[in-house]
Amino acid sequence: MKSVVVTGATSGIGRTTALDLAANGFRVIATARSAEKAEGLTVAAQAQGTELSTVLLDVTDPQSCQNAVIRINESTGGGPWALVNNAGIAVPGAFEEVSESDARAMLETNLLGVARMTRLVLPGMRHRGEGRIVQMSSAGGLVSVPLNGWYCASKHALEALTDALRRELATTGVQVSLIEPGFIDTPMLSNALTGLPPGSRFETAHTTVRRAITMRTPPGPDVVARTVRRALSVRSPRRRYRIGVESVAARAAFLLPSAALDMVARMVVSADKG
Ligand SMILES: NC(=O)c1ccc[n+]([C@@H]2O[C@H](COP(=O)([O-])OP(=O)(O)OC[C@H]3O[C@@H](n4cnc5c(N)ncnc54)[C@H](OP(=O)(O)O)[C@@H]3O)[C@@H](O)[C@H]2O)c1
Repeated sequence: MKSVVVTGATSGIGRTTALDLAANGFRVIATARSAEKAEGLTVAAQAQGTELSTVLLDVTDPQSCQNAVIRINESTGGGPWALVNNAGIAVPGAFEEVSESDARAMLETNLLGVARMTRLVLPGMRHRGEGRIVQMSSAGGLVSVPLNGWYCASKHALEALTDALRRELATTGVQVSLIEPGFIDTPMLSNALTGLPPGSRFETAHTTVRRAITMRTPPGPDVVARTVRRALSVRSPRRRYRIGVESVAARAAFLLPSAALDMVARMVVSADKG
């Protein structure tokens, strides 16, 4: 049975992915930040007639990453076959209005945390001459939008780092995929829609964006879970998996001149004091 570590498996996409993989023949090691949430995940797996094991992990803490990988290596006899770097956070807000500590937390979690865990599992994969790394990126890794610049920066950086990593691993048998979802109905999206930092000068723009996002119901996390499963099941996984209209639109927008995207953004922010 192939072993897969899923980080940030206590909520949203990570939870659904861990449970989906466990139900489809993978040996899942799911990570959680607290024993209570880990227990909740074990119970959820049992309720669907499957099982998974859990490991405590905070990706922003190097010691926690070390401890988690020691346990994972012990339980898998030398390291997991695959790592799904899913754990992530998003603090919405304009460039000037997101605090330095929130900006740092996003880069720590979404970029450095991913790098930390990847570095720790790679030696085992290299040694075995096979393995999979799946990076949970975002449509925000393709195009940067107002009121989400710091999150987009973290995901753009993840895309850049992953492209380099994939090319460096070309001859090792370790295959690397990026998952690029648009909006997915999870607690992260609900939080992002709830509000900007108090006193933001972009309240009207935020309301416009929120209306646009909620005009249709975003897909649930199961669509992402199925895509991760595909990336782990096929012999030659894709480099990139785009999920949802925002992701396809983001790729198309990438090809437009910056002036065209600036014009759309200008219409959104023009109602505010700026
Ligand atoms: N939802 C979307 O629209 C969307 C779109 C594109 C990409 N994504 C990406 O998908 C991934 C999952 O997002 P989601 O929407 O499922 O969010 P979510 O429901 O908020 O889940 C985030 C998960 O990451 C964990 N986590 C956060 N900080 C962590 C840390 N320092 N160490 C370890 N785990 C940590 C959380 O643990 P706790 O339960 O302990 O907080 C939780 O399990 C993220 O990388 C996100 O950027 C989401």
